[in-house]
Amino acid sequence: MSDIRSEIDPRLIAALRRAAHVVVFTGAGVSAESGLPTFRDRQTGLWARFNPSDLATPEAFERDPSLVWGWYEWRRAAVLAAQPNAAHRAIAALAPRVPQLTLITQNVDDLHERAGSRDVVHLHGELSSSRCAGCRRPYQPAEGSANRPTGPARIEPPRCAACGDRIRPGVVWFGERLPEQPFRRAREAAHVCDVFICCGTSSRVQPAASLTDLAIAAGALTVQVDPNPTGREEDVSVALRGPAGAVLPQILALTWGA
Ligand code: OAD
Repeated sequence: MSDIRSEIDPRLIAALRRAAHVVVFTGAGVSAESGLPTFRDRQTGLWARFNPSDLATPEAFERDPSLVWGWYEWRRAAVLAAQPNAAHRAIAALAPRVPQLTLITQNVDDLHERAGSRDVVHLHGELSSSRCAGCRRPYQPAEGSANRPTGPARIEPPRCAACGDRIRPGVVWFGERLPEQPFRRAREAAHVCDVFICCGTSSRVQPAASLTDLAIAAGALTVQVDPNPTGREEDVSVALRGPAGAVLPQILALTWGA
């Protein structure tokens, strides 16, 4: 990749230095350099290989619970084997440099937390927080009972110890509402922040993608970081073309000399 330092708009550096509140809004692209597939990249994206209506809807789970549970167990195992990358670390390093940082993610992995970020707003749930499909009680797998499939496999979901219903992945499926409190926090932050950095998301999934519009309408300096065009380049203040693991550390280095 060519040195993107020359492309980093001085407006961004100035805005970051004086910002009271920065929002970083991430998607699957931030975890791509950790070896986790995105959803919509051609060929490698999960939705290029699998049909979301077979795997990521409440109806799919009702129809074929072991297919759906096994697919998420495979993704959970892949996350466990992955490590945070330079993008996760740069975002964690940004937090102490600004008065307030809100990190909002669509990702269901825990790589932001493992890089040191605290209080991450998870809009689409978390792979680590399975719950009962019936009574919604959180599920704690027994020590040593975790499946570690190396590929998509059929695995019968465990049963809830309290009501006997099936345990489901703690993620938001198509057709489901976003969790209320995280989404409210995300909207509030997008509305008041000075700088909004949108990173590694195709911005194709609503209502999450509407956060960028909120920030634009509220007058924040908005930044997109992505190696590919998303169609939002004209809408944001600054569009930086490149992988998050290279671009975010360079933004930090140029802004704070870190
Ligand atoms: P997508 O797969 O739609 O978009 C990923 C984006 O990351 C694309 O714009 C890629 O170009 C970009 N990308 C790839 N490699 C990158 C890198 N190294 N650095 C930065 N960007 C990179 O993923 P999301 O936008 O996160 O929903 O998808 C949104 C939601 O759709 C997901 O949360 C998921 C999915 O269905 C649920 O799980 C509920």
